[in-house]
Amino acid sequence: MGLPSSLKPCLLLIFLCLLNVSTINSKPLREEPVLFGGNFQALYVIGDSLVDSGNNNNLNTSVKSNFAPYGSDFEGGKPTGRFSNGKTIADYIAIYYGLPLAPAYMGLSEEQKNNISTGINYASASCGIFNNTGKRLGDCLSLSRQVDLFKKTIDNNLKKKFKTKSELTKHLAGSLFMTAIGINDYAFYYNSTTDPNEFANKLLHEFLIQIQRLHGLGARKFFINNLKPLGCYPNVIARNVPLGSCDNNLNLAVANYNTKLRKSLTHLKEKFSETSFLYSDYFNFMLGLRGPSTNQVSSNLMNSTSPCCPSVYDGGRVTSCTPGSSSCKVPDTHIFFDPFHPTQLANFMYSIGCFQQRKVCQVV
Ligand SMILES: *[C@@H]1O[C@H](CO)[C@@H](O)[C@H](O)[C@H]1NC(C)=O
Ligand SMILES: *[C@@H]1O[C@H](CO)[C@@H](O)[C@H](O)[C@H]1NC(C)=O
Ligand SMILES: *[C@@H]1O[C@H](CO)[C@@H](O)[C@H](O)[C@H]1NC(C)=O
Ligand SMILES: *[C@@H]1O[C@H](CO)[C@@H](O)[C@H](O)[C@H]1NC(C)=O
Ligand SMILES: *[C@@H]1O[C@H](CO)[C@@H](O)[C@H](O)[C@H]1NC(C)=O
Repeated sequence: MGLPSSLKPCLLLIFLCLLNVSTINSKPLREEPVLFGGNFQALYVIGDSLVDSGNNNNLNTSVKSNFAPYGSDFEGGKPTGRFSNGKTIADYIAIYYGLPLAPAYMGLSEEQKNNISTGINYASASCGIFNNTGKRLGDCLSLSRQVDLFKKTIDNNLKKKFKTKSELTKHLAGSLFMTAIGINDYAFYYNSTTDPNEFANKLLHEFLIQIQRLHGLGARKFFINNLKPLGCYPNVIARNVPLGSCDNNLNLAVANYNTKLRKSLTHLKEKFSETSFLYSDYFNFMLGLRGPSTNQVSSNLMNSTSPCCPSVYDGGRVTSCTPGSSSCKVPDTHIFFDPFHPTQLANFMYSIGCFQQRKVCQVV
């Protein structure tokens, strides 16, 4: 994997950090040379701001990141609409599998769409699994819209590229479908009066409807990211009591969803033949990165409580990362680039935990 030169001094730090990364309890299987087989023809990305590669740039919303200091470490300093200083976890997945970074659907011309067969990104910041999640902040692509757009890609574009039905079927079955969506549903609709079980069941039900739709369209290999520990993110801890501590009730509610999600994949695998799932425990990866402490101090030398941008953050709405924000000098000294999203270094460490250490990601 190509390593940005700015990251090299951090390698030692990475390996120190990873000693703390939580692991999924599972007996190690026979090690595959490439996790989940590889040889994918394409990477199709469905998700929210964790993996948005620029779709929101083209939507009527204030939730955008196509300005500095976003992208300061992306291909020489390009703000692309990614919500980080550099690559996202979807980018590192593409790199691991030898595929180009999946371009944002909303930024592609019809000609480009007709010419692409290595994957497209439909992810959209602020949106979620429920149709209305995030819409208060402007337009975004909900999960069902994203799957609609993928169907449109098949009908309008891929059917031109793959002339016979069997070629198209082979392309779809040989492609990787990554999903990372659902945390905004918690951010917008979950509160202390919500029944966590009921909420998780309802959300998972809607998620699985769309997974089955993707399967119906021909998808066979799924890379399913679970939901992040929102209760320990800067936007939450800056307002939690005591100040700086994690919201453990919120984390428990999200963990409850993740447990149900993991179980449902086992059921789906039994139901669908020739379909496989990779379950990525992003929740515990991010908790491990933060360190065991519930208050202020990270165990791994990276600042895990305050975002890089804005450099002074109190959890207030007016202090989000905006074009005028001052930001930290070296994003890699932080886990979080803005109050809601990780830095490129955190994303890179995730890819090491998933693909090299094989602890974060587990084939179902
Ligand atoms: C964009 O959204 C705002 C607020 O939701 C609305 O007032 C405005 O008319 C929209 N602009 C366009 C071009 O649709
Ligand atoms: C089509 O894709 C190829 C390689 O993927 C690229 O070299 C070429 O410029 C593209 N053509 C158009 C019209 O986008
Ligand atoms: C979400 O919207 C789609 C159409 O855009 C609709 O088919 C679906 O039933 C809606 N889902 C819910 C739960 O309302
Ligand atoms: C909690 O969420 C429910 C449902 O979304 C909403 O009706 C209620 O007003 C919320 N309560 C608080 C205290 O925010
Ligand atoms: C993290 O960064 C913030 C803002 O720069 C600073 O106030 C805080 O002390 C740092 N925390 C640690 C544990 O270094």
